[in-house]
Amino acid sequence: MVTLKHITGLKDFSRRDIEDVLEVAIGLEDVCWGKKVSKLLEDKVLATLFYEPSTRTRLSFEAAMQRLGGKVISVADAKSTSSAWKGESLPDTIRTIDNYCDAIAMRHPGSGAAEIAASYSRVPILNAGDGTNEHPTQGLLDILTIRKERGTLDGLKVVMVGDLKHTRSTNSLTLGLSNFDVKFTFISPSGFETSPWILDVVKKRGVPYSQTTDLKQAVQEADVVYICRIQKERLEDPGDYEKIKGTYVFNRSLLEGVTKLVTVMHHLPRVGELSEDVDSYPGAAYFRQTFNGVLIRAALLAILFNRLPE
Ligand code: CP
Repeated sequence: MVTLKHITGLKDFSRRDIEDVLEVAIGLEDVCWGKKVSKLLEDKVLATLFYEPSTRTRLSFEAAMQRLGGKVISVADAKSTSSAWKGESLPDTIRTIDNYCDAIAMRHPGSGAAEIAASYSRVPILNAGDGTNEHPTQGLLDILTIRKERGTLDGLKVVMVGDLKHTRSTNSLTLGLSNFDVKFTFISPSGFETSPWILDVVKKRGVPYSQTTDLKQAVQEADVVYICRIQKERLEDPGDYEKIKGTYVFNRSLLEGVTKLVTVMHHLPRVGELSEDVDSYPGAAYFRQTFNGVLIRAALLAILFNRLPE
């Protein structure tokens, strides 16, 4: 079983590491649906420390901890309601909070913030998204979703479309999936392409990939289509958003004439790039994907505390 001290990114996760996490997650279905009571982490406290807004990540971390019998303390808006507002540094905040809990799930706007937190913390840091860098628990829940929807992680054509430059979720997903036998197609508005450091890992692992602008053709050939929103809050020039927001919109007409089932995913929230007319398509997996966040976060907590469920 994989041993983890902190979870700051998927860059160094091997295929075996990912398979281990998935196996634990799948074993926690009944606990995470509330069908089975668990006291696995009843003596543990998780702190959720979020410097950026979140619906899914923070609440699914908290649900996961509570489903495992643990307790949660939470700062949902650390920029304005913690002492960060008075100017406290991240290292000082971490060296304070780690006296109150047994693990910290942190979201921060700074790329690399999770590594900084980990270097100061005496308890495990779980990166809940750091700037445009990584969102490893999202990457793992996305991989779990693909495995559950497709029954395998090998032999798949995976299309990613949207703002691949600023989306940390697709960074982590690409890093994680590049341990498997997949083919990537990347589609982005000009200037919003996948970052070179991600492509370097993909190349180094010998994973085939292409970059195109033809979404219709890519969908025809895809097993999985992963859509992401334009990360408006990360643009240097906010005016760019209005110019590019409609460049790629995934709607039901793109699936016309596609005979095999395509798995459609999105990290959510969606803000126009994924039409609601896709919701009734059998391959639309994005709300099933949100539950897998509870499974993955519960599995990671169990693994970090070396308390594997029986
Ligand atoms: N997918 C994701 O990170 O969603 P939230 O921003 O709502 O946590």
